[in-house]
Parts: sequence; structure tokens; C-alpha cells
Amino acid sequence: MINPLRGMKDLTFEESERFNFIIDTATTIAKRYGYDYIETPILEETALFKRSVGDSSDIVSKEMYQFEDKGGNDVCMRPEGTAGVVRSFVHAKLDRQPMKQKFYYYGPMFRYERPQKGRLREFHQFGCESFREASVYEDFTIITMISQIFEALGIGFDLQINSLGCTTCMPPYKKNLVGFLTEIKDELCADCNRRIDTNPIRVLDCKNETCQSLLVNSPKLINNLCEECDSDFKKLTALLDNAGITYEVDTNLVRGLDYYNKTAFEFVSNDIGSQSAIAGGGRYDKLVEFLDGKPTPAVGFAIGIERIMELVKMPESTREGIYLGAMVEDAVEKLFALATQKRKETKVTVEYSSKGFKSHMKGVDKANARYAVLIGEDELKNGTVWVKDLESKEENTINLEAF
Ligand code: HAM
Repeated sequence: MINPLRGMKDLTFEESERFNFIIDTATTIAKRYGYDYIETPILEETALFKRSVGDSSDIVSKEMYQFEDKGGNDVCMRPEGTAGVVRSFVHAKLDRQPMKQKFYYYGPMFRYERPQKGRLREFHQFGCESFREASVYEDFTIITMISQIFEALGIGFDLQINSLGCTTCMPPYKKNLVGFLTEIKDELCADCNRRIDTNPIRVLDCKNETCQSLLVNSPKLINNLCEECDSDFKKLTALLDNAGITYEVDTNLVRGLDYYNKTAFEFVSNDIGSQSAIAGGGRYDKLVEFLDGKPTPAVGFAIGIERIMELVKMPESTREGIYLGAMVEDAVEKLFALATQKRKETKVTVEYSSKGFKSHMKGVDKANARYAVLIGEDELKNGTVWVKDLESKEENTINLEAF
């Protein structure tokens, strides 16, 4: 027997219904906010992720599904969706058009991480990317949209926000931070020591308890923002306050991808164990430029579908469509003609063999059909069908032509 690869899962039965319900709900809401569907390839040049997500990020340095294809190209299965959407945006020269562009997408992402509950090697995201809107109102709108999606899915959450500053305030802060980290270097873990040189901001995100206790007194970017970033962040918190969206300012929230500036946020759930981030995102005003486009502000997010799967409150399933069954062999063919016709309007389940009444009624329940339609000897003779509405419990014998 061949098993799925470690950290990869089949999506079947009840889970696939949940998956589709999540995608449908998120899609409906994203469309209301003016987002259009975009699909980009799963396989991209490795350089795309190195340049966007960042060479020194864990995702790129440790977790990529990277290989050489038969043409000798260095390619990679996408670990996230933003980079591909931005590449597509630049490729289609949308960076040279004046209109605002908003895209939503969903699909599989691949990260070679150590699998555990809520952490897969192939997982799915629903994401949105909004281009050319520099206003912090857009950051607020995106956070509102995610809250609405979670509300529609019946999922509770905590929201954490931070500001990662911009090219004016981040470099002096980084210098300051490196100075602080160098002084406590010997007490920090090996990972943090490596990051002091490669990506000092990520040290703030270290999960090691000793490191976290040492970082309590680290300089905070939120207290060192430039005037513009500070005013944007204050505006964002005021907008959230006014809207009644509760949040926590987490000064150590830095995100695992290097392209962010200004607003960064994560939605977390306390009901799913240690992999508690159910959505993440923020502003990335420099990424279009990094990928050779014209300077274009942008902001976006992605929801991790598998992480919210078990949290979703599914609507009660209602009976739908028709179940067709024959009680005598000669009626089976008649049913097929009827099925083809009825499938133009509704869901139809057909039982291929003739059976007794009780057995058919079990089939009706299994198919969760609204109407049971059976043809027995009498019906066949009279050119009629026996119909039962499983909701009103009403039973009728109807002329086949009128059905
Ligand atoms: P991210 O925080 O890396 O952001 O991923 C978004 C979400 O994907 C996470 O909050 C989590 O729910 C889910 N996720 C990540 N890794 C795994 C995994 N190994 N197994 C299961 N679920 C996982 C991004 O990917 C950015 N592209 C989001 C974004 C869009 N920022 C701006 N635009």
C-alpha cells in the first residue's frame, strides 16, 4: 500500500465539505470587498521566494520544496501565495496602470516543516492581496474583512497587531537592537546568535523561554517609529477601537516573512493547540519594487484552512434533490431517462438495481434527498411515479409526464 507523504493529507467526505464551505464563505465576502480571483502556478523559480520571502527566513533557508527540473531550472513549490501574485502583477504590467487591483486566491502551499497537529507540509491558504492603496484605512478594511470571514464561519479569535516601521525608522532601530542583542549574546540560544547577523528582528520572535525573558527589556520599534508610521499605527488602533474589534499590540510580532513593513497582524485561536495562528498578514509596500515593478503599496493576508477546519460551525445540512429508485427490474431504464432530465435542475441520486421499499428509503436518507421517487409494478403499468416529500412527509402518485 502506498501512503501519502508525511505531512500531507487527503481531503475527503466531511472534511472536503468543510473545506468547500470555508472557501465559499471567504470567497463571497472577498468579492463583496471588490476582490477578483487570481490563480498563479504552484511551481515558480526559486529566486522568486529568495527575493521576496527572504533568503534568511526559515521558510526559504530550511523549508522549501526546491529541486532542479528536467530543463536544469532551479524551481520551488510555492511556500506561500503573496510572492506569486506579486510576480504575476508585475508580469502583467499592472504596476504601470493607475487602477487599484485586488486579488483573492486559494490553494495548496508547501513547507518542509516538522509535521505536527496544525502543521502540515502541504496545507491550504485562502489569501487576498490589495495593490496601490497606501492608506491605513485599507489595513483596517482587510482586518475587518478577516474578522467578518471568521464571524461567518463561527470562529472566535484574538487579534495581535504590530508596526514594523519603514525604511526611515527600521534601519536605525535595527542598529539599536543589534547593539542590545550583542550585549546579551552569550545568554541567547544558537538560533538567535545566528540571527543577530542575518535577521536580527526575527530574534524577537524566538520561542525559547530564556531568550524571551532576556528580550523583555529590548528596545521596541513601536516606541521608535517615524512620524508617518506612528501616526498610521495610531490611526489603525483608533479605527479598530471605533469598530469594536479587540486587539492586542504585540511588540514582538515580526512575522516569518521578510517583506513586511508598517502594519503586521496575526489572528490566533486558543482552541487548536500550539499552532495557533489561523491567519496572518500585513503591509508590504516595497515588494513590487523588489520584484522589478514600479513602486506600488500593497497589503494582504492569508488564512490557514486546515487550522480552522475543526473550528468551523457548519450550517445544518438540509435535504436536497431527488432519489430515484426502481422496485421492479423493468423500471430501471425509465429511471435513467428521468435522471438525465431532472439533473438539468437539481441533484439526483439513482439506485442502479431494483430493491424493496425499505431498502430504498434507507438510500434516500443516505443521499440526504428531499424527494423519494419510486417506480414499482403499478407505477410502471400506469405511467406514474410515487413521490414522497421527506420534509412535509406528503406522498403522491403523479403522472410521469407531469413529474
Ligand atoms: P503565513 O503567516 O506564513 O503568511 O501563513 C498564513 C497562515 O497559513 C498561517 O497563519 C497559518 O494559519 C497557515 N500556515 C502556515 N504554515 C502552515 C503549515 N505548515 N501547516 C498548516 N498551516 C500553515 C503568509 O503565508 C503570507 N503570504 C500572508 C500574506 C498575504 N501576507 C500578505 N499577504
